[in-house]
Amino acid sequence: MSASDKLKQQAAQAAIKYVEKGAIVGVGTGSTVNFFIDELAKIKDDIEGAVSSSDASTERLKQHGIEVFELNNAPEVPVYIDGADEIDEHGQMIKGGGAALTREKIVAAVAKKFVCIADESKLVGRLGTFPLPVEVIPMARSYVAREIVKLGGDPVWRQGVTTDNGNWILDVHNFDILNAVELEEQLNNVVGVVTNGLFAARSADVALLATSEGVKELTW
Ligand code: A5P
Repeated sequence: MSASDKLKQQAAQAAIKYVEKGAIVGVGTGSTVNFFIDELAKIKDDIEGAVSSSDASTERLKQHGIEVFELNNAPEVPVYIDGADEIDEHGQMIKGGGAALTREKIVAAVAKKFVCIADESKLVGRLGTFPLPVEVIPMARSYVAREIVKLGGDPVWRQGVTTDNGNWILDVHNFDILNAVELEEQLNNVVGVVTNGLFAARSADVALLATSEGVKELTW
């Protein structure tokens, strides 16, 4: 296993203590979460099951024999575990590198607690080096891109990628993110935007950041 994978696995292992017995666990998407799903499988008899933020995570959960519930049938989700592409010192994040941002944001909205798992390279002083993913309704792609330019970003269509919801992704470069909550709202107000990868209004409650000296825990 690579050094980077080892760190992801350590962050995933540290998240197990946040899983509540007998509860439905919110499960994110990505390579770090894949390690978490593998850890969750070891304690699957202690949980009721999971709600998932992507087809890929659903498949991995089911392969491990973990029951996956429809979110509509799971009103109580005590904890949501997910990775991030960037996280800052306030727990605000950029997500969506794996194109699962919309379902991730929905499950995160339902969950009481958001636990972010990552290696410490994801911790940044200011969000925005990672291009900000924006999920768009396909027919609105060009219009949304023009509106994003007016907001100061440089959108690039992630060609060949269709989200689990049948939509497309624009990756926005060069945004000067001074107020993430405001930008998140402005982008969501553009007609044709499904959602954007800023998790600022609903930020993380806990971050488990794996370092070569162990897992650093930040709480907000
Ligand atoms: C999926 O769309 C993303 O939000 C992921 O949570 C994020 O990209 C982190 O992924 P890794 O754990 O693979 O870095």
